[in-house]
Amino acid sequence: MENIIKIYVDNDIYLSEFMEQDQDELVLLLNEKEFSENTGTIPFPYELVHSKNLLLYAFAEAKKFKKIIHFAIRNQEGKIIGSIGFEKLYKLPTHQAEIGYWLSKKYWGQGIMPKVIQKVCEYGFSELSLARISAMVFIFNIPSCKVLEKSGFIKEGVLRNFFLQNGNIFDGVIYSKIKHS
Ligand SMILES: CC(C)(COP(=O)(O)OP(=O)(O)OC[C@H]1O[C@@H](n2cnc3c(N)ncnc32)[C@H](O)[C@@H]1OP(=O)(O)O)[C@@H](O)C(=O)NCCC(=O)NCCS
Repeated sequence: MENIIKIYVDNDIYLSEFMEQDQDELVLLLNEKEFSENTGTIPFPYELVHSKNLLLYAFAEAKKFKKIIHFAIRNQEGKIIGSIGFEKLYKLPTHQAEIGYWLSKKYWGQGIMPKVIQKVCEYGFSELSLARISAMVFIFNIPSCKVLEKSGFIKEGVLRNFFLQNGNIFDGVIYSKIKHS
């Protein structure tokens, strides 16, 4: 725990890499319908096999790119309370990437994620040399749209019938932030 990279978001919250010990906590946090309903990547029910695969994926990406690509969001005790990462990053160096994120329900509504996104954007622009960071949101996910707007992202448009989830097709909203904006 002592030698890991910590990016402080405020006095209480920091970002670091994922760890094996997060496996069980991830199941406890993510086994809630709201996560699968609002993201394309989190299944419900959320089981141990899913958290194992998530950790394997995060470790493999870190190894491949020799950088942290997926961050755990941690509280003062070092316990995982959410995550944020760069998705669909096929190569580095590159000029653009997409972010995905979630936060434990217990912490919603405290303005944590806008601060997290700003830190991760700073990291993306400086450490990964990105020029553009985007986010794709389900049309009905108003909290996520608000979070992105609070983080300085600009809505670029609505992608019609972009998502297919559980047999339902619906629109997506694309947001982006560019370096120095
Ligand atoms: C989207 C999410 C990350 C927001 O994080 P957060 O730290 O709570 O963000 P904020 O505190 O800035 O709140 C953002 C909005 O969430 C909504 N919100 C706040 N508390 C809430 C609660 N208890 N229940 C539901 N929504 C709530 C409000 O609309 C709020 O906007 P406001 O500040 O203008 O009132 C979080 O809701 C989440 O993890 N959602 C599920 C996963 C997800 O949607 N990921 C993004 C996929 S694109």
